[in-house]
Amino acid sequence: MPNENILEMKQIEIQFPGVKALDKVDFSLRAGEIHSLLGENGAGKSTLIKCLTGVHHKDAGTILLEGREIQPQSPQHAIELGISTVYQEVNLCPNLTVAENIFVGRQPMRHRQIDWKTINRRAEELMARFHLDIDVTRPLSYYSTAVQQMVSIARAVDIQAKILILDEPTSSLDDNEVNLLFDVMNDLKRDGMGIIFITHFLDQVYAVSDRLTILRNGHLIGTFGIKDISKVELVTQMVGKDMDTIFNLKRAEVAGDARDMLSASHIGAPGQVDDISLTVKKGELVGFAGLLGSGRTETAEMLFGSKHATKGEIVIDGSKASINKPYDALKLGMAFCPEDRKLDGIISDLSIRENIMLAIQARRGFMHPISKAEQNELADKYINALKIATPDAEKKIGELSGGNQQKVILARWMATEPKVLILDEPTRGIDIGAKAEIQRLMLEMCGDGVSVIFISSELDEIIRCSNRVIVMRDREKVAELNGETCSQHQILSIIAEGSAAVGGAAE
Ligand SMILES: Nc1ncnc2c1ncn2[C@@H]1O[C@H](COP(=O)(O)OP(=O)(O)OP(=O)(O)O)[C@@H](O)[C@H]1O
Ligand SMILES: [Mg+2]
Repeated sequence: MPNENILEMKQIEIQFPGVKALDKVDFSLRAGEIHSLLGENGAGKSTLIKCLTGVHHKDAGTILLEGREIQPQSPQHAIELGISTVYQEVNLCPNLTVAENIFVGRQPMRHRQIDWKTINRRAEELMARFHLDIDVTRPLSYYSTAVQQMVSIARAVDIQAKILILDEPTSSLDDNEVNLLFDVMNDLKRDGMGIIFITHFLDQVYAVSDRLTILRNGHLIGTFGIKDISKVELVTQMVGKDMDTIFNLKRAEVAGDARDMLSASHIGAPGQVDDISLTVKKGELVGFAGLLGSGRTETAEMLFGSKHATKGEIVIDGSKASINKPYDALKLGMAFCPEDRKLDGIISDLSIRENIMLAIQARRGFMHPISKAEQNELADKYINALKIATPDAEKKIGELSGGNQQKVILARWMATEPKVLILDEPTRGIDIGAKAEIQRLMLEMCGDGVSVIFISSELDEIIRCSNRVIVMRDREKVAELNGETCSQHQILSIIAEGSAAVGGAAE
């Protein structure tokens, strides 16, 4: 019965202080359908989901599940109704085992005792369905984010949900893991489950969806069959501008006599990366390409002192640097916006302004308070530049949408006025319009003489922005290419083969 509506949400409204997050939004889901929900950061996607899962209560509108009106009161209630969610942030218990995480709160009992044998066996069966051969009696924290993500999906699947909601589940998965997830989604779809999929990766939308719905600023733009809307049209509808206007960027120009701003020779540490040398000139943007786990992040962490380099030498702006901890690097004019921004940075109860000020305050020293006027000016500058969706700078960061929280953390590091700025996957989880704004801002900073190291898994943005591209593989630097002349294909084949022999090397 693929055409039957399993879910209908009609005229949904939700008002937060200062923001109408949803305004008369209609959404429907069929049994046996994968339906993508799209929109810029802050468009209202998570809010629509949370109103279905009982986290937020709608101010107006109706929700029909299999034709009957429901009023989800709490996440637990939603689960009982057959609605399961995997959120943007994995929220399981890291200390419990994989099996315990799948069955927590609903453990099968035998002779009044928890039936561990059954739990572990069923957990193994479930994991096998996901083609994961793992020890389910190990703590969840032992495994990668990808596995953890699969565990939370397994839990949802085992509850025999009618509706499965995936809110940006793929942002920390590599290509193989994404394909695995898609296999599972297609399996579940064949069983008649309705799946709502939220992502900022448009290629993924086209790879799995049957239909898609676009939200903009809390309004419904429309619902389309996947074959009825082109990618170009989709972006235009989401952002309200066409792609060429969005990505009209100009690579930074590096002066011929530009001096070396950062140069690392033969740095490494056991178990991290072995022997990396690189140079970034003043005003230059160097892109780091490579797969997850190829050593890009470890290299950046060593440059910034969050991991200790046991060998090699780092020279910053002509002087040999001794960087043992991030504070040393910060003092030398470096800034590093890490990949895992959730773990590394958000203080939910502080305002946007306060969250932005943290790093610059640390750099200037706590004996030199920053005036309220300057704070306001800086906060407003970045709210505008990064298009952070908020009524003002005083809103608590915890109340922003996921992507907008990330933009605040980026702003925190950009605001330190660094000489060397390292950005690790800065555009992950960020919508396509804001991605372009971040790229524009990076290039502008290069124009002002800042040296930027840009780590990204998306080759198109590496190629669009970089003056030079360093390709990493298996914790080694395998190639250095001229950013203006190299191609995606070339980088991909180097990543695949690990050969540095492909042409186009700079210097
Ligand atoms: N708990 C909250 N309190 C106040 N405002 C909120 C709250 N949650 C969300 N908002 C606001 O509602 C709007 C919609 O946010 P939502 O999280 O639904 O966006 P989103 O489409 O999921 O974006 P993203 O792609 O960044 O995750 C935003 O303006 C956000 O600031
Ligand atoms: Mg969201």
